[in-house]
Amino acid sequence: MSSCVQAELTCFEASCRERFAITEVLYNCPKCGGLLEATYSGPRPSAAELRDLFRQRRLSNAPLDTSGVWRYRELFPFLNDNAHVVTLREGNTPLLDAPIAAQYGGLDKITFKHQGFNPTGSFKDNGMTCGASQARRLGMQRVACVSTGNTSASMAAYAAAAGLEALIFLPHGNISFGKLAQALEYGARTLEVEANFDQILALVRVLAERLGIYLLNSMNPFRVEGQKSIIFEMLDQRDWNPPDWIVLPGGNLGNTSAFGKALREAHELGLIQKMPRLAVIQAEGAAPFYELFHQGGELHAVTNPETLATAIRIGDPVSWPKALHEVRSSCGTVEKVTEQEIADAKAMIGRAGVGCEPASAATLAGIRKLTAAGVIGKSADVVAVLTGNVLKDPDYIYKYHTGKLETPSGAKIRATFGNQSIVVPNDPDRIAALLQ
Ligand code: F0G
Repeated sequence: MSSCVQAELTCFEASCRERFAITEVLYNCPKCGGLLEATYSGPRPSAAELRDLFRQRRLSNAPLDTSGVWRYRELFPFLNDNAHVVTLREGNTPLLDAPIAAQYGGLDKITFKHQGFNPTGSFKDNGMTCGASQARRLGMQRVACVSTGNTSASMAAYAAAAGLEALIFLPHGNISFGKLAQALEYGARTLEVEANFDQILALVRVLAERLGIYLLNSMNPFRVEGQKSIIFEMLDQRDWNPPDWIVLPGGNLGNTSAFGKALREAHELGLIQKMPRLAVIQAEGAAPFYELFHQGGELHAVTNPETLATAIRIGDPVSWPKALHEVRSSCGTVEKVTEQEIADAKAMIGRAGVGCEPASAATLAGIRKLTAAGVIGKSADVVAVLTGNVLKDPDYIYKYHTGKLETPSGAKIRATFGNQSIVVPNDPDRIAALLQ
């Protein structure tokens, strides 16, 4: 892409930092087992040149420029040729104000960066366009992932667009219908395994190695590169004025890793002068990162993670070493929230006219706790990232509003902000009487 910049894969472990060619098919460091990241060396344009370039591209109709990911391609220059790019014009997601949600969260103002506006309805598209493009560049025929739903929907779409065969592994019975439906519609071979996400990830790693399939889970360093664009686009939309806090839900922690890397790189390149703080929110029944952050040591996996926010039902997040580094170096924090708190926050985001899927609502629930505890100030400038579209999990919505939602252990969730539909006869007098 840029002939003078050199891209490599580098071990993330500070004690190793072994480097590999960018075209090697690796997910972990062969020397120490650490996570890998894409690193770049060589001359880069100045911050002013980059800002101008990104702004100019908004006037262009070229496919790469109209993608809210590839518009920022100088900030992840791992491809040698743009012809490899597969784009569905991902990104381009809005920043939305939501006064009702701000008030609920204990803030004067909140801004949602809504990744649910993506082509397959989640932030996964930001990363998948890069992962699928790298798969094409490597000459791969088949791609695979395990997923709580959104990764599979996204991978299925990008594989189809790229002419790759998609193989999807899902935890049977723990994926929302909207997401499963997407995988089928985009033509992926879909296997529902009777195991949880963490167990299936171990299985898929073995199969990928044995069958020579390219893995597109979030430890794939190119997906992380693409997800950095969520931050770059948000900063560009704010004229490179960073917020005080960026709040996001945490599952496998790929997004937390991507956000931290994006912020550090934007800072190093002089695109921003100040580092925002990261706040990662987990569901109480799947909160190993919360425990790690507050207790220190190594990550203790949760063997039976449970949450109705199935997107973040993960007990053994692979990217925790990166995520821990990013949250610590941003002076950030990690919070956990209950099923009731997620459900009510989600309804509030809906009332604001914004809407999102359950995992995304963990952000507002977490903000409410963090403002109450005085960690986030009332007047702080907060961007919360909504990771998935409201229509991803309609079953959850219907159950909440009709008072039928229950936690995984069978406790009732109150429909605090419930809104039920009413069945009426085809009779104008009776309907008018009801509406008076
Ligand atoms: N929000 C949504 C809507 C998600 O789908 C996910 C992850 C997350 C948050 C957590 O992001 O894993 O980067 O910390 N979904 C993955 C999947 C695991 O398979 O779709 P993370």
